[in-house]
Amino acid sequence: MSECNPTKAEEKLEFYRKINKEIVNDRVSFFKCFDLHKSETQKFNYKSIYEEWMMYMGELSRIERKDALSLYIHVPFCAAKCNFCCYDSVSFNKELVPKYLDYINEEVRLFAPITRQEKFDTIYFGGGTPNILNHKELEVLFKTIFENFQATDNPELKAECNPNFSDLEKLKIFREYRFNRLSFGVQSFDKDVLCKAKRPYQTDEKVLSAINDAEKLGFEDVNMDIMFGLEGDNTDKFLNSIKKAFQSNVGNIIIYKLMPTPLYYREFLLKESLGPDSPEKEVFSRIYDLKKVFFEMAKLADKYDYKYNKDELNYSGTNMGIGFKRADLARNFDFDKKNYSFYVDYPMSCLGLGSFSMSHIFGRAFYKNMNKEMFFDTEQNIYTGNRIELGAEILQDMANQIENTNLIDLGVLNNKYSMNLLKMYSKQLADLLELKLINIKDKKIYINEEMIKLTELLLFFTDIQHLRLLNRQKNIISKPPDYAKN
Ligand SMILES: C[S@@+](CC[C@H](N)C(=O)[O-])C[C@H]1O[C@@H](n2cnc3c(N)ncnc32)[C@H](O)[C@@H]1O
Ligand code: SF4
Repeated sequence: MSECNPTKAEEKLEFYRKINKEIVNDRVSFFKCFDLHKSETQKFNYKSIYEEWMMYMGELSRIERKDALSLYIHVPFCAAKCNFCCYDSVSFNKELVPKYLDYINEEVRLFAPITRQEKFDTIYFGGGTPNILNHKELEVLFKTIFENFQATDNPELKAECNPNFSDLEKLKIFREYRFNRLSFGVQSFDKDVLCKAKRPYQTDEKVLSAINDAEKLGFEDVNMDIMFGLEGDNTDKFLNSIKKAFQSNVGNIIIYKLMPTPLYYREFLLKESLGPDSPEKEVFSRIYDLKKVFFEMAKLADKYDYKYNKDELNYSGTNMGIGFKRADLARNFDFDKKNYSFYVDYPMSCLGLGSFSMSHIFGRAFYKNMNKEMFFDTEQNIYTGNRIELGAEILQDMANQIENTNLIDLGVLNNKYSMNLLKMYSKQLADLLELKLINIKDKKIYINEEMIKLTELLLFFTDIQHLRLLNRQKNIISKPPDYAKN
């Protein structure tokens, strides 16, 4: 270090060390900070999706995998569309089901061979409504998936269900295929709220019998989803729903904060004179007495012996969901660890199958399958999503090289990207050389690993604007990403 004033390079190093310490101190957090949402949404065809997965699977075979790998199968049918729902589905039609099953078959034929070397931590059937399929159809679907994809020794095998379509025989099929988590969409126990949400068919009896059957059959984790922020809801109705959820003695309860779709904004929230950019807290405080809701919810959880993460039960704009676990199940549960099996921002990769499925190639791309026709055509199938920008992709390659060989081989990267990276990064490299953190010989960058951490080094090559640091601090109501809107 210079003795009096720090040089520009020293100032940069100090700044990057601070960011590194506070935010991006490991590779997973670093790439998680790239805001894929900020890159332009684009269309992909099947070929580019396939190549992206091939490349990623190739990388996984060379390095020790740190992020989770998930398989997501979207079952895109609903008996009736709930007005708040931000997930895509079509009206159930029994003629469409064989087409859907053929479609899945074709995707499995194409994608299973390239994932053969990997085991999936999670295999997740979501929707829509997976359990709207009849017994035979469920068997066909599960057989196709479980015969072609491998799960880890202790996987999470999960399905989303609508209590209205639950029956003992279907639950037994889930059990036969070793499912350990079932999640029932309940949303509310209030008749008026359910009617407004277009779920008039739902009764307490049906919900309770679905939950009891599943608990009796021994699923490790039976969950009930309740929504926070629905049209017609208020403090008393919500607390009453929560109370009924606790009284059901279900193993797990998640309260999802509404992410309003554009339609829901127009039809409901705008009626309450709230604009699309109204701060989230303002939106929810028109509906609820937030202080009372959170205070009473904690009291009810204690009364019915449910455990939760105390930080979640304190209104915070960033909460996606608040989880409660029955005390007997909570003993060995780490409440600080996020436990969402499928969440596109979570540090994991997820291969999605089925129309409207969403996929995430960790740190590289996320996309949604836009094929409504349920007819697989390698030329016509369209996916929309976001792909990591070129600069960040180069950083990923650099990180891989450093982790595997302790150096960056610019020759290899120049060939791959048809660029002269020595020239492109000349300023950054000059700073690193001045700081004596690297040496360069024959287009190879040797890193003084004792002096600089991987992510500190990567920060030198990063356009800081592209990291999602500031975005997180904005407390604007979270909306589903463009590709998730109905
Ligand atoms: C894909 S749905 C499947 C549930 C099942 N089909 C049912 O409703 O009976 C999973 C959960 O997402 C939640 N959800 C749906 N739309 C949402 C939105 N706009 N914002 C937040 N959560 C939502 C609901 O709690 C729902 O139970
Ligand atoms: S909440 Fe469930 S049943 Fe309702 S529309 Fe969404 S996926 Fe379908």
